[in-house]
Amino acid sequence: MQFNQLLTQRYSCRAYKTEPVDDQLLLDVMEAARLAPSACNKQPWTFIVVRDETTRHKILAKSRPAFLDAPVVIVACGHHDLAWHRQADDKDHTDIDLAIAVEHLTLSATDHGLASCWVCSFDVEATVEALSLPHGVEPVALLPIGYAAEGDPLPQKIRKPMQEIIRWEKY
Ligand SMILES: Cc1cc2nc3c(=O)[nH]c(=O)nc-3n(C[C@H](O)[C@H](O)[C@H](O)COP(=O)(O)O)c2cc1C
Repeated sequence: MQFNQLLTQRYSCRAYKTEPVDDQLLLDVMEAARLAPSACNKQPWTFIVVRDETTRHKILAKSRPAFLDAPVVIVACGHHDLAWHRQADDKDHTDIDLAIAVEHLTLSATDHGLASCWVCSFDVEATVEALSLPHGVEPVALLPIGYAAEGDPLPQKIRKPMQEIIRWEKY
C-alpha cells in the first residue's frame, strides 16, 4: 500500500470478526514494531501476543466488549529501567518509544489486511496479574488485532485543520 493510502486506511476498529489470524502473519506484522526507532536505541519493550480467550477476557474486562471479538490482543509493555532517561531532567522515554512501536504495528496491521485499535483504557492491575508482568514492566497499550467485521465502515478522519496545528518559526 502507498504510504499516504496507509495513513488514511488505518482506523480504530471497534467491530471484529472472530476469525483467527495466522501466527506467521502476526509475526510479519510485528516486524514493524521490531524495526521501530527508540531513544538511544534502547528498545525498552516486550510485545505479548495473547490469543487465549480467558486471558483476553481478563485483560479487556473493563474495555469495550467488542474488542473481545478480535482473536488476538497484543500487549505492548514498557521497561522503565531499560529506557533512555534524559540526563538534564531524567525524563523517562518509555512511553514515547512504545507509542512509536505501537503505531508502527497499527500501520503494519493495516498493510497486511488486518484491523486494530489503540486501547489505553484498560484494567492495568488485572493485566499485570494475568500476564505475570515483573516489577518495572508496565503494560502501556493494548492492541486488539483481527479482521474487521463485514461492513465496518471506514470512519471519516476528523482532524483539526492544518492552520490550527502548525506554526512557522515561532509559536
Ligand atoms: C494513545 C491512544 C489511546 C487510545 N485509547 C483508546 C481506547 O482506550 N479505546 C478506544 O476505543 N480507542 C482508543 N484510542 C483510539 C482513538 O480514539 C482514535 O485513534 C481517534 O479517535 C482517531 O480515530 P482513528 O484512529 O480511527 O483515526 C486511542 C488512541 C490513542 C492514540
